[in-house]
Amino acid sequence: MTAVASTTWTHVCSVEDVPLLEGRSTSIDGRRIAVFRLLNGFAAIDAHCPHAGGPLADGIVADSCVTCPLHGRRFDLVTGAALNGPETVAVHDVRVEEDEVWVRLA
Ligand code: FES
Repeated sequence: MTAVASTTWTHVCSVEDVPLLEGRSTSIDGRRIAVFRLLNGFAAIDAHCPHAGGPLADGIVADSCVTCPLHGRRFDLVTGAALNGPETVAVHDVRVEEDEVWVRLA
């Protein structure tokens, strides 16, 4: 079965709503999404850690990765893969237009 990417972009916040190297959680179609502001733009992943549901938007952000605050899984915000575990989190498309941040679910 092939996954079909969403074609719908959803406005999630303004650039200034997310401090540099921090995350914020939002909801799109009932799905919790974590949005991060990186040095070179924004990233969005599912907000719940696939290990045990930790709040990834509250994790420490560094080197385009976020560290889950519960047990320390470190997820690459480009690939979604954990660098220190077998889990992978869904990565969503992000675009910024005129200081507004939009997300398209994977
Ligand atoms: S819940 Fe995220 S590492 Fe355990």
